[in-house]
Amino acid sequence: MASKKAAKGRIGVFEWKQETKADWWEVEALYDLCFAPGREALSSYRLRDDVPPVAELCLVARDETGIVAGAIRYWPVRVGPEAALLLGPVAVHPTHQGEGLGGLLIRDSLEIAHKSHWERVCLIGDAPYYSRFGFERLDGVIMPPPTNPERILGRELAKDAWKGVSGRVGKWSGRVRG
Ligand SMILES: CC(C)(COP(=O)(O)OP(=O)(O)OC[C@H]1O[C@@H](n2cnc3c(N)ncnc32)[C@H](O)[C@@H]1OP(=O)(O)O)[C@@H](O)C(=O)NCCC(=O)NCCS
Repeated sequence: MASKKAAKGRIGVFEWKQETKADWWEVEALYDLCFAPGREALSSYRLRDDVPPVAELCLVARDETGIVAGAIRYWPVRVGPEAALLLGPVAVHPTHQGEGLGGLLIRDSLEIAHKSHWERVCLIGDAPYYSRFGFERLDGVIMPPPTNPERILGRELAKDAWKGVSGRVGKWSGRVRG
């Protein structure tokens, strides 16, 4: 995928930009705060082991005090022979939840992904939240077990990009189409 100029912007009191190496541990601390202990034992993390995230889609938002208020990361995966993005983790600091930051990080990163010619995105999450961004249940797409199929969601960034795409979601190997 073509690498674009680093994205950045301002959202209300938040400033967001592409995550750098220096941000990594602060983002990890945010995820530790927002998710249940042992999050890295989840099967979806096995898709991320030893695979670099998609740098241009990993965004960090800081509040006016400079504290990390929200972050989103993406990894490349394959579904059968096709390339896809795995959205997540995404989290917003509890003191800033409900202010629209999560939605803005998701929408902006999806826009960057679209411009970078990614065609499809999947995730494991709550349909009642992600449906507002156009995510729907993906039938026939299988995440590493144990994963509740109801929580396997996808969104197209190109017309009919999920049509006919099914099978196991596997680690990115570089040997994919798309
Ligand atoms: C999920 C999360 C990223 C949303 O970020 P946020 O900045 O609070 O979200 P927004 O302000 O954009 O949207 C808030 C809305 O989403 C809803 N919402 C948040 N989490 C939800 C969920 N799991 N299911 C359904 N709705 C949810 C809120 O009720 C609120 O609804 P409203 O607009 O009708 O009032 C954030 O709450 C969070 O970090 N949660 C803990 C970590 C997590 O669960 N991450 C997602 C899984 S990868």
